[in-house]
Amino acid sequence: MASMQDKVETNLGLLILLVLLVVSVGGIVEIVPLFFQKSTTEPVAGLKPYTALQLAGRDLYIRESCMVCHSQMIRPFRAETERYGHYSVAGEFVYDRPFQWGSKRTGPDLARVGGRYSDQWHRVHLTNPRDVVPESIMPGYPWLAENKLDASDIRRKMRVLRRLGHPYSDEEIENAPKELEGKTEMDAIIAYLQVLGTAIKTRR
Ligand code: HEC
Repeated sequence: MASMQDKVETNLGLLILLVLLVVSVGGIVEIVPLFFQKSTTEPVAGLKPYTALQLAGRDLYIRESCMVCHSQMIRPFRAETERYGHYSVAGEFVYDRPFQWGSKRTGPDLARVGGRYSDQWHRVHLTNPRDVVPESIMPGYPWLAENKLDASDIRRKMRVLRRLGHPYSDEEIENAPKELEGKTEMDAIIAYLQVLGTAIKTRR
């Protein structure tokens, strides 16, 4: 008498049916719990959403395409953690929409550049990188220091982000244009760089 296994293996229709059954049970077990979870990634302890100034700086970072040369994602390898600090974890990026991970590294990774240099160093470096790093091939961005920050849409941006789960208070949104008042684009992009990766304490 043919065994159960022989029967299944010689009956193509039955085999397909059983394979589909097994795959769908596996799929359901993995997918269904996600519908009942508010978020699959919890923010790391101490992570705050960007302030109005940092948020404006982040948009400038994107406008100037800094991510074309800089990643923001430290991989969990010795060579990376020795150079940049603690490897990146998912919970650090819950207030990044969209995240700036990337993989292109013409310049160094910036995921933990916050606090590594003074504001003044960044100001000189962003204006003309070769003034502080003679062999640098990074372009200068002198106009950042000349351009006044545009505060006209900051409240709207923060309201949209709040709808997506960033915990901004009414007061923070109300005061946002005041926070940007009199600031240049340079101030904003430096404020953004200085907070990068600081939610996790590293050895440096
Ligand atoms: C053409 C590629 C390129 C672009 C575009 C670029 N950079 Fe760089 N960046 C580099 C290189 C190369 C270095 C390393 C040499 C140096 O420090 O100048 C660097 C270094 C840096 C550093 C110092 C990092 C460290 O750990 O020492 C910061 C901060 C930085 N860039 C920020 C920016 C910002 C902000 C922008 C966008 C306004 C930007 N970069 C655009 C290539 C680039």
